[in-house]
Amino acid sequence: MATWLLGYLVILSAYGPILSLARGTPKRAEDVDVLEWVNPLIGSNSGGNVFAGATLPYGMAKAVADVNGENTGGFSTDGSQITGFSALHDSGTGGNPSLGNFPILPQICPGDELDNCNFPIGSRATHYKNDSIVAEPGYFKVALENGIEADMTVSEHAALFRFDFSTEGNGTANGTALSPLIQLDLTDLWASRQNASVSIEAEYGGSSARIKGNGTFLPSFGAGSYVAYFCLDVSGGKVKDSGVWVNNRAGTDPKELYVTRGFNLFYLEAGGFVRFQGPIFGPIYARMGLSFISTDQACQNAEKEISGLEYDFDGLVSKAKDAWRKKLAPISIQSGGVSDDQQVSFWSAVYRTMLSPQDYTGENPHWTSSEPYFDSFYCIWDMWRVQLPFLTIADPGTMSRIARSLLDIYKHRGWLPDCSMSTCKGWTQGGSDADNVLVDAYVKNLTGIDWELAYEAIVNDAENEPLEWSIEGRGGLASWKRLDYIPYLDFDPNGFGTNSRSISRTLEYSYNDYCLSTLAKGLGKETHTKYLSRAGNWQNLYKADQKSLVNGTDTGFTGFFQPKYLNGTWGYQDPIACSPLADFCSLTSNPSETFESSCWEYMFFVPHDVRKVVELLGGTDTFLKRLDYFHTSGLADIGNEPVFLTVYMPHYVGRPGLSAERAHSYIPSRFNSSTNGLPGNDDSGAMASFTLFANIGLFPNPGQNVYFIIPPFFESVSITNALTNKTATIRNLNFDAAYKRIYIQNAKLNGEVYTRNWIGHEFFTMGWTLELTLGETESDWGTREEDLPPSLSTSNSTGSIKLLTYHAG
Ligand SMILES: *[C@@H]1O[C@H](CO)[C@@H](O)[C@H](O)[C@H]1NC(C)=O
Ligand SMILES: *[C@@H]1O[C@H](CO)[C@@H](O)[C@H](O)[C@H]1NC(C)=O
Ligand SMILES: *[C@@H]1O[C@H](CO)[C@@H](O)[C@H](O)[C@H]1NC(C)=O
Ligand SMILES: *[C@@H]1O[C@H](CO)[C@@H](O)[C@H](O)[C@H]1NC(C)=O
Ligand SMILES: *[C@@H]1O[C@H](CO)[C@@H](O)[C@H](O)[C@H]1NC(C)=O
Ligand SMILES: *[C@@H]1O[C@H](CO)[C@@H](O)[C@H](O)[C@H]1NC(C)=O
Ligand SMILES: *[C@@H]1O[C@H](CO)[C@@H](O)[C@H](O)[C@H]1NC(C)=O
Ligand SMILES: *[C@@H]1O[C@H](CO)[C@@H](O)[C@H](O)[C@H]1NC(C)=O
Ligand SMILES: *[C@@H]1O[C@H](CO)[C@@H](O)[C@H](O)[C@H]1NC(C)=O
Ligand SMILES: *[C@@H]1O[C@H](CO)[C@@H](O)[C@H](O)[C@H]1NC(C)=O
Ligand SMILES: *[C@@H]1O[C@H](CO)[C@@H](O)[C@H](O)[C@H]1NC(C)=O
Repeated sequence: MATWLLGYLVILSAYGPILSLARGTPKRAEDVDVLEWVNPLIGSNSGGNVFAGATLPYGMAKAVADVNGENTGGFSTDGSQITGFSALHDSGTGGNPSLGNFPILPQICPGDELDNCNFPIGSRATHYKNDSIVAEPGYFKVALENGIEADMTVSEHAALFRFDFSTEGNGTANGTALSPLIQLDLTDLWASRQNASVSIEAEYGGSSARIKGNGTFLPSFGAGSYVAYFCLDVSGGKVKDSGVWVNNRAGTDPKELYVTRGFNLFYLEAGGFVRFQGPIFGPIYARMGLSFISTDQACQNAEKEISGLEYDFDGLVSKAKDAWRKKLAPISIQSGGVSDDQQVSFWSAVYRTMLSPQDYTGENPHWTSSEPYFDSFYCIWDMWRVQLPFLTIADPGTMSRIARSLLDIYKHRGWLPDCSMSTCKGWTQGGSDADNVLVDAYVKNLTGIDWELAYEAIVNDAENEPLEWSIEGRGGLASWKRLDYIPYLDFDPNGFGTNSRSISRTLEYSYNDYCLSTLAKGLGKETHTKYLSRAGNWQNLYKADQKSLVNGTDTGFTGFFQPKYLNGTWGYQDPIACSPLADFCSLTSNPSETFESSCWEYMFFVPHDVRKVVELLGGTDTFLKRLDYFHTSGLADIGNEPVFLTVYMPHYVGRPGLSAERAHSYIPSRFNSSTNGLPGNDDSGAMASFTLFANIGLFPNPGQNVYFIIPPFFESVSITNALTNKTATIRNLNFDAAYKRIYIQNAKLNGEVYTRNWIGHEFFTMGWTLELTLGETESDWGTREEDLPPSLSTSNSTGSIKLLTYHAG
């Protein structure tokens, strides 16, 4: 068994053969338990915001310690203080921290006096011992500086915490028997509670106590509120007393409490507690059942999933680990001697793609349905580009259930979601990107999805403007249909949203409509030509004479997207605005005409017609020069999703070797196995999937049946398709672990010469074998017109797309 101590792999000899994992020692990844290569602590500080605790694949219960530093995913390896342990979390999100409801904390009250315990969050926060952290799939352990140790595991909707007070002198100090106390706080990570209830059922001398309740909280990036329910059973000794606490005082009477927002919305700190008669020799267990339906359901979830009073903690841990092994099983690699870091980064990324979305089936408070219910789409703007396409490959059964759940949301709410968390509607970031997700599933033949319903849902996005397009659908549709672009400072009395992002929304709506036209065509609908024509609307915001200055000097590149008023007059946004060289632009901070990215970066966001972009920008040479300047000048924001596709754009001008070079320039320098190894918020598993696809050597252009081919970062990668049970293999010949040879010289598909620089999803469903022969310089492989990925405009009427301009060396 391998355990992660702040990033260092340690093999515990007690659990079997000691594996030599010294740097550089050759070993075969396939001979060891794949979970030994998963480090959940990657991205647990410096803004990765990953969830580092115990969970099942897509599990609702996510148990971890919450800290008062970087607490977006609950825990951080930033050396801050632990404020409690809770079991609902989201992974990798930015902005306000999500969930973290009903934290519990073990304490010993000095002098055994209740009022000496530190109940409020500010005074109870305790440092953890840096070297005590153990994070593994399905398991998390940490020791507090006061000597109390906590470890935890989960089932689907419940968590089991184990608190060990034994290093506290086995519950005696100063000659007095000390009584461990478990405190429950009616709060969440960002103190969004509106009101909450708690009640305690405990008998003096009894062997366990039950604390249950509910609370109304706010979603961290969305509208409305949600109610969460819990049912906590605490056991492990004889109950000494129990009751409620408010601010820094506690009492054994009453046994229930209702708390609301008081004067000036004052945030009252309050909750329940139970104490056990000391000294205590064994662990105290806290089993936390959760639900979004009712307290009773929270109790039932816990009783059903973690049964008995003598909990089989280790059994639960191994069940969780088996569930993860099963999810990772379709993938295997032959490392070819690459570093351990690279392999850990890879397997941990696979793991992180299955933390969210979360499977809340059976926990939907809004309607009843026999369809699956997934939540924590946080947000689809982040997930559609690489994470969900990865699930289509590695876990198509679940991806199909996710697509069905999107359609069930459409059926019952009238709109596909764009972002959603804790059962609430989240804020829309740009386009209606569930459209792209569904069409990607369509072109990749996922099964069990009602495509007519999908068509209806996407047409609804394309044609009907909702009153509140900040949470669903699209805004400015009247202008979109009349003018063929989203105007700067649009006049839109039909619906309401943040009236910004006119450029990025125009680009995203164009791609959404392209995806819709693909589905329409596939289903034999005549509307496909109408949407194909709308898919070209992006061209209306291209201002051919726009220049861009950096540090007051003309960059020499001309032609950028610019905002355009209703009357057709151009507005202005500095092309470098919203790039890392300027300010960050989101919905609320510095809202601009481009969302979270600059005109520079959005110039490359035309996934369906890259060839037209190449043509507009003056042909292959200026296009490549611009791409290069973008990636080397600091303008590219590699920590956010819109940049991803730009890495692979050289494929469209017959320079696949440049895409490979660019991928290697970012991995591992910006995506690696350190706790700070992510360049930005993981955004569920988006950063993870960027790493994965590069490592696999096939990068998707989702919504299209296209993967760009570069050499995998391992000698070979095999993935078994769960629907067809066929195994696809992509193998490098002449591979070197130092990555000197990253240029494909020639390729064979199932033994036949293959010259295209891209391939379709059939590769995975049919279980094909692609062999790439590598060399140290670019070759003419994949460079010819007929080798390039499809693009709506393949016309080279201007003659400006000059191919075969590769140079050796
Ligand atoms: C624990 O780690 C944090 C973050 O690296 C550091 O700031 C702190 O000093 C460390 N604490 C100890 C006791 O080493
Ligand atoms: C033990 O006694 C010391 C000195 O009176 C006091 O500071 C400390 O809090 C006591 N420890 C506990 C665990 O009660
Ligand atoms: C606590 O009790 C256990 C079991 O009796 C014993 O093994 C352990 O050494 C004790 N710990 C301390 C700190 O006294
Ligand atoms: C709790 O707060 C929610 C949201 O503000 C409100 O709808 C609900 O009525 C409140 N419940 C009670 C019992 O006050
Ligand atoms: C929360 O629990 C209290 C006490 O049992 C109950 O009165 C209240 O209706 C519950 N609130 C919700 C939203 O279920
Ligand atoms: C178009 O509208 C903008 C913004 O109101 C205004 O500045 C500009 O002068 C108008 N152009 C014309 C040609 O009227
Ligand atoms: C702009 O100026 C800054 C500060 O002088 C410098 O660090 C940076 O490299 C310059 N950027 C470019 C693209 O010239
Ligand atoms: C790992 O990635 C982080 C985040 O991008 C970066 O800051 C760090 O320098 C990288 N570390 C290594 C060793 O490349
Ligand atoms: C999948 O294929 C493997 C190897 O050919 C075989 O052992 C296994 O039984 C197959 N599984 C299913 C579900 O068909
Ligand atoms: C999807 O199914 C169609 C019809 O059977 C087939 O032609 C196509 O190759 C399949 N696509 C993929 C990606 O498997
Ligand atoms: C593009 O130009 C090349 C070279 O002139 C020619 O061979 C090719 O057929 C053209 N492609 C298209 C789609 O017109």
